[in-house]
Amino acid sequence: MKVLINAGPTRESIDPVRFITNHSTGKMGYALAAAAVSAGHEVTLVSGPVALTPPAGLKKLIRIVTAAEMAEAMKQAFPAADLTILCAAVADYRPKFYSSSKLKKQDGGMMLELERTEDIALTLGQLKKPGQLLAGFAAETDDVEQNARKKLTEKKFDWIAANRVGIPGSGFGSDTNIVKVYAADGSMIDLGSGLKTELADRLIRIFAAGK
Ligand code: C5P
Repeated sequence: MKVLINAGPTRESIDPVRFITNHSTGKMGYALAAAAVSAGHEVTLVSGPVALTPPAGLKKLIRIVTAAEMAEAMKQAFPAADLTILCAAVADYRPKFYSSSKLKKQDGGMMLELERTEDIALTLGQLKKPGQLLAGFAAETDDVEQNARKKLTEKKFDWIAANRVGIPGSGFGSDTNIVKVYAADGSMIDLGSGLKTELADRLIRIFAAGK
């Protein structure tokens, strides 16, 4: 199977010195890429800036920095993919104006105007052709199931892997995660807690088996 995976955060620059990002380390996405390679799939990994070594045996590694670059790379690679897994924590907002010179601090506060980035998942969900499989992730602090099911429908995912963030042993930076997989047919598989590497193996098996 041709598998496309995105992973890690994006960085949205404010000026040459500062940027907006999030706590994603890329561990879950890189574990999925490694698991997919081990299972014999042809894997393209599109990665934001992370401190991880890419798994051996990738067909292609595309490094990007911004949400716009992530969107470009994903739209280009998507048509050839049988299975696409969206594990990246793409910035939802970027600074509306980029200052090419370093902003100087002043007394008092400052306002930073933000604009929306493209929702890559939503775009790919609309481009999806019959036979293509699309899986997403939902990192939630509250109402995990309700939010996950809403995203599953809105983004036309075949599956969404939901995990809690903000609790020990799950989410950003951790080597472990707690995952439930909701499928478009309404079913749910509770994978419980485990190492991201073990969960990745099971997720790849579920996704590669198809709908
Ligand atoms: O709506 P939310 O960002 O929580 O949905 C999470 C899912 O959407 C993840 O699979 C993530 O990779 C994807 N996403 C995206 N583009 C964005 C924001 C999120 O593809 N701009």
